[in-house]
Amino acid sequence: MSLLEVNNLKVEFETADGIVNAVNNVNFSIDEGKILAIVGESGSGKSQTVFAMTGLLDHNGSATGSVKFEGEEILNLSNQKLNQIRAEKIAMIFQDPMTSLNPYVRVSEQMTEVLVHHQGISKSDALKQSISMLDAVRIPDASNRVRMYPHEFSGGMRQRVMIAMSLLCRPKLLIADEPTTALDVTVQAQIMQLLSDLQKEFGMSIILITHDLGVVAGNSDDMLVMYGGEIMEIGKTENIYSASTHPYTQGLMTAVPRLDDSEERLITIPGNPPNMMKAPVGCPFSPRCKFSIDTCSKVSPVLINVSKNNHLRACHVATEEIL
Ligand SMILES: Nc1ncnc2c1ncn2[C@@H]1O[C@H](COP(=O)(O)OP(=O)(O)OP(=O)(O)O)[C@@H](O)[C@H]1O
Ligand SMILES: [Mg+2]
Repeated sequence: MSLLEVNNLKVEFETADGIVNAVNNVNFSIDEGKILAIVGESGSGKSQTVFAMTGLLDHNGSATGSVKFEGEEILNLSNQKLNQIRAEKIAMIFQDPMTSLNPYVRVSEQMTEVLVHHQGISKSDALKQSISMLDAVRIPDASNRVRMYPHEFSGGMRQRVMIAMSLLCRPKLLIADEPTTALDVTVQAQIMQLLSDLQKEFGMSIILITHDLGVVAGNSDDMLVMYGGEIMEIGKTENIYSASTHPYTQGLMTAVPRLDDSEERLITIPGNPPNMMKAPVGCPFSPRCKFSIDTCSKVSPVLINVSKNNHLRACHVATEEIL
């Protein structure tokens, strides 16, 4: 049994202009101790996929399908139950640490409160555990710094505090939504390294959401490529990297900023993301795809195996054409 199994997940938003189809029939699973990267351009449905799973959709959104965590259905559970799951089993960290940290309350207070509330331990034990978690995320001089306010930390250090806080209750799954986007490249690399070290130390699974393919290689076991709310390609990261068979993934790969390039060139895929108001007909990427054939705009491609290693892609064009 996988730790998490997502089946036919759909997310819709009701708006004054009509229904937005943000996520369409998404299927994937994660095993214990694995890192899954979800990649795709802005608006492709990455965040709404995980928000739906954890009950964090905006009030105008609704989700259907199935999300099983440790074998139990968690999609659309009551707020109370989802709050508990988010506190104890599935932790989330975001691009901006200030969405999880209160700037006016000392780190020690914020961390110990979580432990006292959810684990029922004493305040002094909670403080010890908080300090050792700050140590674990490599914050120097943790026993003194625990008394500081979030705004007294640098951006990278604040991100570490948020990670420490999210790990306090030893979650089985950590969801990191663009955790490094706001940081400079060196700090980004340090945080990614930290997450992968912590994954090994604590044995949890991680969903890493990013639009930057550069951070996926070497930092994830599997990857899922989304576009227009649909999965384009899914498989082992190394297989997709060595032989991507989807035109969209290939487009993203050429769009990775080159670190060795002084101008930090960013090549983007020509064209605009799809209008999510229209129910998808055919492949959402077809209007921008240089390999597009007649069928692509008419028939929705299904995910099929391209190799024996569970590498699937949704594309009508023959792999020989693309490779
Ligand atoms: N409350 C809402 N009402 C209407 N549409 C919404 C709402 N929230 C999100 N959407 C739409 O859902 C789609 C998917 O958004 P999502 O947040 O999942 O994108 P993303 O892949 O995480 O992008 P980014 O990289 O920019 O974070 C987008 O078209 C977005 O505009
Ligand atoms: Mg997002």
